[in-house]
Amino acid sequence: MSEEKKIESLQKEGQIFEPDASKQGQAWIQNMEAYDAANEKALNDPDGYWGDRAKELLTWFSDFDSVLEADYDKPEFKWFSGGKTNVSYNCLDRHLTDGRRNKAALIWQGEPEEDVKVYTYQMLHTEVCRFANVLKKKGVKRGDRVAIYMPMIPELAIAMLACTRLGALHSIVFAGFSSIALQSRIDDCQARVLITADAVLRAGKTIPLKGNADEALKDCPTIEQCIVVKRGGNEINMVEGRDSWWHEEVNAEDITSDCPFEEMEAEDPLFILYTSGSTGKPKGVLHTTAGYLLYAAHTTQCVFDVKDDDVYWCTADVGWITGHSYIVYGPLTLGATSVMFEGVPSYPRPDRFWQIVDKFKVNIFYTAPTVIRALMREGEEWVKNYDLSSLRVLGSVGEPINPEAWLWYHNNVGGGKLPIVDTWWQTETGGIMISALPYATPLKPGSATKALPGISAKIVRRDGSVADANEGGHLIVDKPWPGMLRNVWGNPDRYKSTYFAGFPGAYEAGDGARMDDDGYFWIMGRLDDVINVSGHRMGTAEVESALVAHPDVAEAAVVGMPHDVKGETIYAYVTLKSGVEPDDDLLKALKIWVRKEIGPIATPEFIQFADGLPKTRSGKIMRRVLRKIVEGSDEFGDTSTLADPGVVTDLVEGNKDLL
Ligand code: PRX
Repeated sequence: MSEEKKIESLQKEGQIFEPDASKQGQAWIQNMEAYDAANEKALNDPDGYWGDRAKELLTWFSDFDSVLEADYDKPEFKWFSGGKTNVSYNCLDRHLTDGRRNKAALIWQGEPEEDVKVYTYQMLHTEVCRFANVLKKKGVKRGDRVAIYMPMIPELAIAMLACTRLGALHSIVFAGFSSIALQSRIDDCQARVLITADAVLRAGKTIPLKGNADEALKDCPTIEQCIVVKRGGNEINMVEGRDSWWHEEVNAEDITSDCPFEEMEAEDPLFILYTSGSTGKPKGVLHTTAGYLLYAAHTTQCVFDVKDDDVYWCTADVGWITGHSYIVYGPLTLGATSVMFEGVPSYPRPDRFWQIVDKFKVNIFYTAPTVIRALMREGEEWVKNYDLSSLRVLGSVGEPINPEAWLWYHNNVGGGKLPIVDTWWQTETGGIMISALPYATPLKPGSATKALPGISAKIVRRDGSVADANEGGHLIVDKPWPGMLRNVWGNPDRYKSTYFAGFPGAYEAGDGARMDDDGYFWIMGRLDDVINVSGHRMGTAEVESALVAHPDVAEAAVVGMPHDVKGETIYAYVTLKSGVEPDDDLLKALKIWVRKEIGPIATPEFIQFADGLPKTRSGKIMRRVLRKIVEGSDEFGDTSTLADPGVVTDLVEGNKDLL
């Protein structure tokens, strides 16, 4: 059957891929009976289930007194009260005596092929202790915030673990964000120290980074010190008294490899990670020590079935939650070998990922649908040149994986045999919530399948009643889980209103979804004004406020436009101030402007200049109409409340001219 025919029939029949019978029973959860049993136990006796898991997966300096105290009204969730532990101890120290001392913890593949570094658990421990001592020397202590703005180099993981050793919170800002985005995040969490690098190596280019940090630091009074890793070797500006080189700091005479860890309370804050919401300002999602770490480790074990001699590779950037949980914290807690890759899938050729899988004999490979779609376009011959027989489990994250990409991944990378675990989760959930279990769950391409044991995910209507099978609704989780966010940094009201106000007694994910007759989840996408560009969340309000900050712009409305590779791309409607004429120069200037305000990922692919936006008589922009226009649809629904229905016709014309 041709690929197209196969996709067609698959969509029609809802084809199910049963687990390979010869391999069933090998994974951590062996089959659906075992899943059902675990799920039943976890839902009926969450304290027993999570308490056992916490003892199995983490080392405690003091036992916890209770597993969970939950209060949805406040809201406040306390996991493992009374327990004491330390993240860097769990990721490193304990593996020095459990037989893994000389095992590879991190295999780092730099962008240049010859740049490879392997850190055993012992070596990583030494580096983390040394750098923690540097931070200590700089005055960093328990509870302080440390901002990190770095490329995908080992020092990034070392810096994170060093923070956790001292009980300081890290707040990582993806290196693709602009200086303005960095500044606002540092300002929000009041970080004392910034760790950065001279440059990012990407697709054969040296992209300066320290200049962005300098720009940001012009307006960051809380930052006392800035530590810079030398990566690009490019010329940079060092500010005396503030800036220092990483390599000089860690090699200083007074820095030793011995650094005691702090005994942290289970609920002590661990890190802040900013993510886009439906208002202009990103939210500082707060995760805490024991619950987050347990959940990262637990999900790494049940979803990826990482075994002791596996090589496991998650291709995300550590600047996003996926990298936090599934490159660093989950795998290292389990004592696994985690691959970290500095480069991109398409450079120097679109076979880089497969070449790396072959080179390190990767067993578990976790990537995003946008990557699969981009590589699929390059043709399967790029995959065929490599021996991918080491692979056992394939994963996907960030957005729904369309059946076409699923099949391509399954057939070409997985040799038509390997399970694909399509994992649904969010920055806020800390770890995977809905996913297939490899070699256990029958798969349906495009469905994230079932909630993990103990995760009480449901689809409900606005009034909270449970939706019927196949009826679209709001995705909620009505039982707490250890990895859930504990607050929005500095903004408890937003924590409550965003996640716990919509459906009393439950966490509201902000996604729309449906459940089919077999109880499988089909995620439909965000219900708020957040769009998903290449698996990354972008708030339309954030891009709009960047656009209206430009002196020539009067108003802006941003929507997501369907895109073959990126999933969605940014489409902006812009009205200009009177007297300003639209032209190509202004168009280019606005794109550069947004890049500078937020970063390249926020750059609108299309900007349509318009005379007016579709507004109701009360002045509200009718986004539904704007979305329909970019989708090429003319089913605008009821537009009778529009102040000037003629605006829509003009916008449709303008859209046709642009595309
Ligand atoms: O809309 C969902 C989508 O990504 C959002 C979370 O984005 P972020 O916090 O940046 O975390 C991304 C990586 C965990 C969700 O609200 N999403 C994530 N994974 C999937 C997904 N949509 C469908 N299927 C998925 N597997």
